[in-house]
This record gives sequence, structure tokens and C-alpha cells, in this order.
Amino acid sequence: MYRFMPEFRLPRIIGHRGAATYAPENTLASLREAKRRGASWVEFDVKLSGDGVPILMHDESLKRTTGLDRLVADTPWAKIARLDAGGWKAPRFAGEGVPTFEAAIACLAEEGLGANVEIKPCPGREAATAVAVVEVLCRSWPAGLPTPLLSSFKDAALAAARDAAPDLPRAILIDELGDDWRRRAEALGAIGVNTNGRRLAAARARAVKAAGFLLSVYTINDPALATDLFALGVDCVITDSPDTIAAATAT
Ligand code: G3P
Ligand code: MG
Repeated sequence: MYRFMPEFRLPRIIGHRGAATYAPENTLASLREAKRRGASWVEFDVKLSGDGVPILMHDESLKRTTGLDRLVADTPWAKIARLDAGGWKAPRFAGEGVPTFEAAIACLAEEGLGANVEIKPCPGREAATAVAVVEVLCRSWPAGLPTPLLSSFKDAALAAARDAAPDLPRAILIDELGDDWRRRAEALGAIGVNTNGRRLAAARARAVKAAGFLLSVYTINDPALATDLFALGVDCVITDSPDTIAAATAT
């Protein structure tokens, strides 16, 4: 079993769902496009197919990105594997499939990409999704890649991940930080706070940093806003356009 490094480093920029501006989100093409556009890490969403296979998918329904009007949780992997997850974005991506989490990891290894793995469970599958994600990571995360960061909006998922693999770094995901962010982060043993950069008040950003947490913001495609957020002390910007944000915020 892979042992994760105790030290953890977050990049300044992470490609969101790969590089979602340029390629169909959460596909291998999108991961490769992020690398081509200069990203060293990518974020993507993992949930379980109906029969428990971890796959890259944001929505609970397959409709928006594959055209099939069915819930992911009700659809077996064998059916999802035959869907086109690229044609909706542009004709040149037609035939691009929904990747399994394992296929995505193999792609990361080929490309030399680190990852923020967002555990995105369908309702009621919080713990099962987290346990499946951790199992795949512990079994197959490439030794040459940096330690990945797990994140989730669902505390139950992060708690299950913590219990299954305490040494895998975790970040809480919160759209807008309320007064309870620190209690939640500490209860889950999180090292990071990932939040909506458009709703991040300066005082909250300062409080997160003063408390010693890594602070990441999503989904920032506006270079001016990214610049402002870095100036507030944000460590990492998660963006659909990693090339644009890198060019505008180079240090
Ligand atoms: O992980 C950051 C971001 O992806 C969270 O929101 O809805 O794009 O998964 P969402
Ligand atoms: Mg996400």
C-alpha cells in the first residue's frame, strides 16, 4: 500500500475539472489539456456509478455532460462506459468517455499531474464514496506524484476518509465561510479550507491563514480577481483557465 508523504505542498494554481474552459470537464482530455496549458495540478469530482465504480462526474444526473437522462447512482458502470462525455463541448471531443477514477490516475501519472480529488457523493453515499476513493488512492497512487488533497462539501465523506486513511490530507469545502468553519475543519482533521473565491471576505481569509490552514478558492477565471485573492493571502486558485490565471499572476 502506498504511504503518503507527511509533508504536503499545494500549488498556486489548480486546473478545475481539468481545464474546463477548453475541454469537456472531468474527462482525460481535460486533464491533458490542463497540463498542456501549464497546470501542475488538477481538480476533479469523483462519485460512484450505480454498481460502485468511482468515476469522474460532477452532476448527480448524466444528462448535461452525456445526454443520458439518468441518475449516476442508478446507472451501472458498463452503461456509463459507453457514453459520449465530450461531444456536448465541441465536435472534436466527440467520443471522449467518462473516465474511471483509476483511469484518471493513470493519466495523471503519464502527465505528471498532482490532484485535488473532490469527493462528490450522490445523496446517501457519502461514506461509501469516500471509502472507495481512499481505497483506490492507497492502492494505486503513483509514487512519483505529489501527495493528493482530498476535499468535499460533505463532512460525512471527509470523516469517512479520515477514518480510512488519516494520513491523506483533507480540505473542507464550503461555499461561503460561516462562523463554524474552524470547528468543522478541526473536527475533520483538515489541513485546508477550499471556498468560493467570490464570497470570501478579507477578514475570513485572514482568519483562515492566521489559524494555520491552507486556503484555496474556486472557481476563479477572472485574472483581476485572482490577483486580489492572492493579495489577500490565498494559497491556491482553482480555475477553468490555468493558462490565463498563471500569465496574469506570475510571481
Ligand atoms: O473543488 C472546487 C470546486 O470544484 C467545487 O465546486 O461544484 O465545481 O465541484 P464544484
Ligand atoms: Mg469540484
